[in-house]
Amino acid sequence: MKNFTSELSVGAYLKAGANKTVRTLSQLKDLYSNREEVNRILENEDPVLYEVFEMPPSPKETDLLVNITVLHAGVVGEEPFMTKGHFHQDPDTGEVVIGLKGSGILLLQNRKGEIQEFPVEEGKVSYAAGGWGHRVINTGKEDLHFLAISGANMIHDYETAVKLNFKSLPVENKERISANE
Ligand code: 6PG
Ligand code: NI
Repeated sequence: MKNFTSELSVGAYLKAGANKTVRTLSQLKDLYSNREEVNRILENEDPVLYEVFEMPPSPKETDLLVNITVLHAGVVGEEPFMTKGHFHQDPDTGEVVIGLKGSGILLLQNRKGEIQEFPVEEGKVSYAAGGWGHRVINTGKEDLHFLAISGANMIHDYETAVKLNFKSLPVENKERISANE
């Protein structure tokens, strides 16, 4: 990755050279447990759930990945929009998540099935250590923006998250969501 400086906003980040990846409901429909609701929504439209803005990665494995994700507000049945969720493959690289705007939860789960949850909002920084799969859930009513920084030597491992039945929304969180309303 080349040197850059940017305001912490998506517009400025794009001007600084970031690439955009779009994730829609049809690509991620298996994440949501209410299949009928998924099909009902997809009959009318294929909503964008989130967008990832990433500086072009470097071939050097000692480099950093620095992304902004915009996770839109919305629900599929009772489940709020969430990222796909993944582990970082060997070497199990850690990740820093910094909330920029909106409110949500960083859900961490390790291979033993232990779970931790941290808030994602402006002024909060969290660290997901190597070996902890991670997913962000937008529990608020506005778009959730967050910055993620990790090592360029990692490969996104989505399969392990699926195999381990990575949690989408622990029951306790339902109270947290209603507290935001
Ligand atoms: C990363 C970060 C983060 C993440 C996006 C989209 O590893 O780069 O965790 O930028 O990739 O928020 O989440 P998914 O990769 O799970 O779709
Ligand atoms: Ni990650």
